[in-house]
Amino acid sequence: MGKADDSSRSPAHTKGVSPRYPIVLTSVVSLTLGVALASFSLLHGGKHHAEVHRVGRLPVMGYNTWNAYHCNINETLILETAQLVKSLGLADVGYNYVNVDDCYSEKKRSEDGDIIADKKRFPSGMKWLTDQIHGLGLKAGIYSDAGWFTCALYPGSFQNEARDAKLFREEWGFDLLKYDNCAVPFDKITRENIIGRYTRMADAIAAQAKVSGKPPLLLSLCEWGREQPWLWARRLGQSWRTTNDITPDWPSIASIIDQNSFYSWASDFYGHGDLDMLEVGNGDLTFEEAKAHFTVWSFLKSPLLIGTHLADATPETLEILKNTEVIAINQDPVVGTAVTPFRWGINPDWTANASFPAQYWSGESQNGTVFMLLNTLDEPADMFFNLTESPWIRAGRQYSVRDLWTHSDNGTAVRNLTVANVPPHGVVALLLRDAGDEPAGIEPQCAVREWCMDKNGTFV
Ligand SMILES: *[C@@H]1O[C@H](CO)[C@@H](O)[C@H](O)[C@H]1NC(C)=O
Ligand SMILES: *[C@@H]1O[C@H](CO)[C@@H](O)[C@H](O)[C@H]1NC(C)=O
Ligand SMILES: *[C@@H]1O[C@H](CO)[C@@H](O)[C@H](O)[C@H]1NC(C)=O
Ligand SMILES: *[C@@H]1O[C@H](CO)[C@@H](O)[C@H](O)[C@H]1NC(C)=O
Ligand SMILES: *[C@@H]1O[C@H](CO)[C@@H](O)[C@H](O)[C@H]1NC(C)=O
Ligand SMILES: *[C@@H]1O[C@H](CO)[C@@H](O)[C@H](O)[C@H]1NC(C)=O
Ligand SMILES: *[C@@H]1O[C@H](CO)[C@@H](O)[C@H](O)[C@H]1NC(C)=O
Repeated sequence: MGKADDSSRSPAHTKGVSPRYPIVLTSVVSLTLGVALASFSLLHGGKHHAEVHRVGRLPVMGYNTWNAYHCNINETLILETAQLVKSLGLADVGYNYVNVDDCYSEKKRSEDGDIIADKKRFPSGMKWLTDQIHGLGLKAGIYSDAGWFTCALYPGSFQNEARDAKLFREEWGFDLLKYDNCAVPFDKITRENIIGRYTRMADAIAAQAKVSGKPPLLLSLCEWGREQPWLWARRLGQSWRTTNDITPDWPSIASIIDQNSFYSWASDFYGHGDLDMLEVGNGDLTFEEAKAHFTVWSFLKSPLLIGTHLADATPETLEILKNTEVIAINQDPVVGTAVTPFRWGINPDWTANASFPAQYWSGESQNGTVFMLLNTLDEPADMFFNLTESPWIRAGRQYSVRDLWTHSDNGTAVRNLTVANVPPHGVVALLLRDAGDEPAGIEPQCAVREWCMDKNGTFV
């Protein structure tokens, strides 16, 4: 699990059993089950298509219009943004999607029933826009909603899923669909719940990919972490939002980190918890806070979608967004899993506390064990851990230390590591590589006494 061979993933899915439906069949339930299984075969196809075409294996990186512009978007702005993604060197470090969020359409569908791009703000049409974006060597994303309307009350895709999937992918040429959860119909109409409404679109995307033979739209679920999407969303799409919307301030970032500390284990290849779009460069985040924000999003394998006004992005903003050593962990081709906390730190382990999330995290990577230390306090702090607190460290070994923010090799750690004076809301990102047996003669002989019994029956 978590290594390149991910064939063991999602057993319920691969066995073709949808756990949403009970085994006991009355005639009514059996009808429902029949429909569910028919729909499930498409679902399986959808996953199959993404994996066959090798799309969505790693977290999506790119730009999304919402955090910087909300509804104030148009084709000029989006094309200029795409050009900046190229000219600022962001595409070179992996940001290759340019995604259009809410408010791009007319308020009403055409007489034929299709969504129409806003005629004033997108006068050249969406096909022209995706052609331009593709012409820059980038991919393009679009937005819709599982209800009657989007969150800004433009047409949603409920009951138009197949039509809209075809429009977005084949006629407009988009590569990704962000799918929101506003303005959803009464349960009395659908009897489907969130999973059912998102399954409609997943099925439509899969069916359309099957006919076209081309890679499917990537499906980015945006239902804000309702009903534990980390348990089921990977069957339907490639990422799932885990929380309510982000805002550009430390309390929002800290709260998102806190919530995700309890389910960051769920991300792996082809399925990623989405911590929401980046606020690096926005609001009143300090440099240290923005670094911490970017590190957490990267190491938890969240999609990395820039959301700041790029035309006047500061050198600090670009330095953060272009930290290739941190991005490499997010885009690790060998290990798909995220970092998880091994100690909460100032609070007892497993404490949920929106202002003071877990402080000590680790995870596997292609090149060694990654550590992430977060100083959640409002003052500087020394941070300490024993290496074997992380499950990915071998006892009795020493480790070379690479600092992924200062880009320096920081000697060798034996048994433990202290980082002095971590700034308020600051982060430390380290890569530890096995550097052989620890030096002889260290007392006590074992890092953890509990696991250190001599065969004569006494503790060493
Ligand atoms: C496009 O949007 C940007 C940002 O909201 C705005 O400054 C600009 O005037 C708009 N341009 C057109 C042609 O509408
Ligand atoms: C591992 O190290 C290689 C060589 O330095 C580098 O190219 C690659 O990006 C690293 N992988 C990760 C996941 O950091
Ligand atoms: C969160 O943790 C801090 C630090 O331990 C504590 O002072 C505060 O009371 C906690 N807040 C809640 C709501 O438990
Ligand atoms: C670190 O290891 C030392 C020595 O075994 C032990 O006394 C200490 O409690 C450990 N600290 C943590 C935080 O695990
Ligand atoms: C690693 O070394 C650099 C350069 O001396 C220093 O700035 C940085 O704080 C060190 N990192 C840690 C985690 O000690
Ligand atoms: C850290 O490890 C060293 C051995 O490298 C040991 O001498 C020291 O006591 C340890 N510190 C703590 C606080 O456990
Ligand atoms: C058991 O082994 C330990 C460590 O090797 C040694 O220090 C101790 O003297 C031994 N005790 C007995 C009763 O042999």
